[in-house]
Amino acid sequence: MQLVNKDLLDMGSLSATSIKLILDTAMSMREINQRTAKKVPTLRGKTIALFFYEPSTRTKLSFEIAAKRLSADAVSLTASTSSMQKGETLIDTARNIEAMSVDAVIIRHSASGAPYLLAKSIKSSVINAGDGMHAHPSQALLDLLTVTTHKKKIEGLRIAIVGDIAHSRVARSNIIGFKKMGAEIVICGPRTMIPKGIEKFGCALTYNLNHALEDADVVMMLRIQKERTKIGLLPSEREYAREYGLTTTRLQRAKKNVLIMHPGPVNRGVEISPDVVDGPFSVILDQVANGVAVRMAILYLLAGGKRDVD
Ligand code: CP
Repeated sequence: MQLVNKDLLDMGSLSATSIKLILDTAMSMREINQRTAKKVPTLRGKTIALFFYEPSTRTKLSFEIAAKRLSADAVSLTASTSSMQKGETLIDTARNIEAMSVDAVIIRHSASGAPYLLAKSIKSSVINAGDGMHAHPSQALLDLLTVTTHKKKIEGLRIAIVGDIAHSRVARSNIIGFKKMGAEIVICGPRTMIPKGIEKFGCALTYNLNHALEDADVVMMLRIQKERTKIGLLPSEREYAREYGLTTTRLQRAKKNVLIMHPGPVNRGVEISPDVVDGPFSVILDQVANGVAVRMAILYLLAGGKRDVD
């Protein structure tokens, strides 16, 4: 079975069947990543272009590693070194790159919606690696894979997502993805960091971290997205840490086998204490490892062969 979609733009465009297909494919990719020789010829002859117009460590590296492990050729462009510096538009840039017979374009951009513009303008597959505050579908998929590998299911789990929800594309994509797969979501953060109308996504809402942690199977901590707001949303980081920072003591309210997740980068001592980051319940580095497997699956399904119905 193949994906029906040409592009991966957001979690809303994926059916539960497509999500399951990506996760099942990623499971088999995990095995490749454990081998001594971590390379298969699946995408030999394919070319993948990475446009990263915002900083990234995990997403950019893991897409590059994923492409290389599948034997695709990966090339990359950044805003500061491309001809966008000389006034070329994003779409013209993409059309030029497509003219070089690129099979898929992976884009991270500060403007919400930028990947949609590209997807409409070029025939190559477009993969959204994070657009503004809007969506980060590959992050949600790797988070779903991480929870699935540890809990063996998603349905019925209570998942607390805590922090700067308003500015977080990770939160939006995870809410849609986990809800679609049957989880129960509780959102928590200061009032200034909760978007209006969040309840319409079918989430519970609390401004109290202790309430959010009560009986949680999974706790997903988010950093404050300082780059997306010019006004101060908090009196101080110290106050934020006191009200919303996850500590070992607070964690006792969650279930005994709780999973602690964070998409990274982590601000130790702000949204999460260092002993929780490095503690026994943390699966933060599992998320990173699963990021490679999920991105291998995405590239394989979008650039690897013919598309099919799901
Ligand atoms: N989770 C995530 O998107 O991390 P990077 O910004 O380092 O890619």
